[in-house]
Amino acid sequence: MTGSLSCVTERILLPDHGKQLSCRHMNRFFIIFLLVLLLSLPALAETRLMTVSDLHYMAPSLYRGSELFLHVLRNGDGKVPQYGEELLAALYREIIAQQPDALIVTGDLTFNGEKKSHEALADWFSRVEAAGVPVWVIPGNHDINTSPVGFDQYSYFPTESVTPEEFASIYADFIGTGTVGFSYAVPVGSGLTVAMSDVSMYQEQAQTFGVFTARHAAWLEGVLKGNAAVITATHHSLLPHTDFSKENYLMFGHEDMQALLEKYNVHLNLSGHMHIQHVAREGSLYDAALGAFCIWPHRYAAVTLRDDGSLMYEAKELNAQYLPDGFLDTSREWFAGIARDKAIASDIAGTGIEKEAMADYAARFNLAYFSGTYRADDAAWTSDPAYALWEKQKDSLFWKYMRLVMAEANGENLMLGGRRSSATLTGMKQRHGVKDAQR
Ligand SMILES: [Fe+2]
Repeated sequence: MTGSLSCVTERILLPDHGKQLSCRHMNRFFIIFLLVLLLSLPALAETRLMTVSDLHYMAPSLYRGSELFLHVLRNGDGKVPQYGEELLAALYREIIAQQPDALIVTGDLTFNGEKKSHEALADWFSRVEAAGVPVWVIPGNHDINTSPVGFDQYSYFPTESVTPEEFASIYADFIGTGTVGFSYAVPVGSGLTVAMSDVSMYQEQAQTFGVFTARHAAWLEGVLKGNAAVITATHHSLLPHTDFSKENYLMFGHEDMQALLEKYNVHLNLSGHMHIQHVAREGSLYDAALGAFCIWPHRYAAVTLRDDGSLMYEAKELNAQYLPDGFLDTSREWFAGIARDKAIASDIAGTGIEKEAMADYAARFNLAYFSGTYRADDAAWTSDPAYALWEKQKDSLFWKYMRLVMAEANGENLMLGGRRSSATLTGMKQRHGVKDAQR
């Protein structure tokens, strides 16, 4: 969505997204999960990459001191660009500490495509590269040919976006060469190739959807033919993640990309866009949608190609020690407060205390859904007294949203770990073993 103020409130409806869980049982800094796939490569040195998505960074000069900006965010989808500097500082320390072989950024770099935000972010990428970590980016639907605005204290004003040519210039050091948009392949570490696949649509004006075209297919097949171990990266989803979310987030032409990856035994695509942490699987192909960096719990992921040819994906949270004291609590409460407000506003009936209880439940539910920790089979959700109150709110929009999420079989979300996921992982190892390199 672009144009005027509506551009900054695009994703305000929580039902745009989906999925959460009870943090009572989780260590906040718990390293969430992994998938292991044997690529049957010859012995190689370990390759480690870090990936992050949906930074939605905004240059402070475009909102500093603006009450209106905070008001817009408070009615938004949980993003906290007002803390963008703190988040980037923490991510930088994380990168320095881990020294990955590359940082992969899968789109929606900026809040809504502001040129100033792009320029500032590119400066930050330069600092990362100066520290010895190559950075590779693709744009998302919020990055090019948008209609962004900046904010004064109580008003907003148009600000410059970027054309594809300007994007190419600003990020010249962080994009490779290719013939289909900003699609390119880069070698990372020892023997891994990352096919950065730009499926976003922005040639005339930014569109929300993504498309994998025949031109993408021809380019990608060339990459796959020429490289032994490949993973891909897209902004939009490659696989359906949830019934609730797939309509808005799955790229058009995903079947063609999936078929191509299966043909060449590619097992992993890194994506973002949903803002929800969720890993989907079809056969031996995984689409790991990374939770948005701009919302609590501010995820990034580590991908490791081990020397035995196995590939591991881990979703992580920023080290709290790299953030200001209390930051994660503040950010979590920001996101929770938005859900509470939406729940209260969604035509629920009851006493004041009952409404408070329902709003608190809605907030916890939404946090779990987005952070990838919601478990539909966790009885605590239905035995909660507030659940009984919610069951009486048949016409409430928020109840309908929660029911949709609850009704979905989410056992395929490998981020959840646990019984089903473990079984799946075991099965994956057995079925795929050491075989896939023969192509
Ligand atoms: Fe997006």
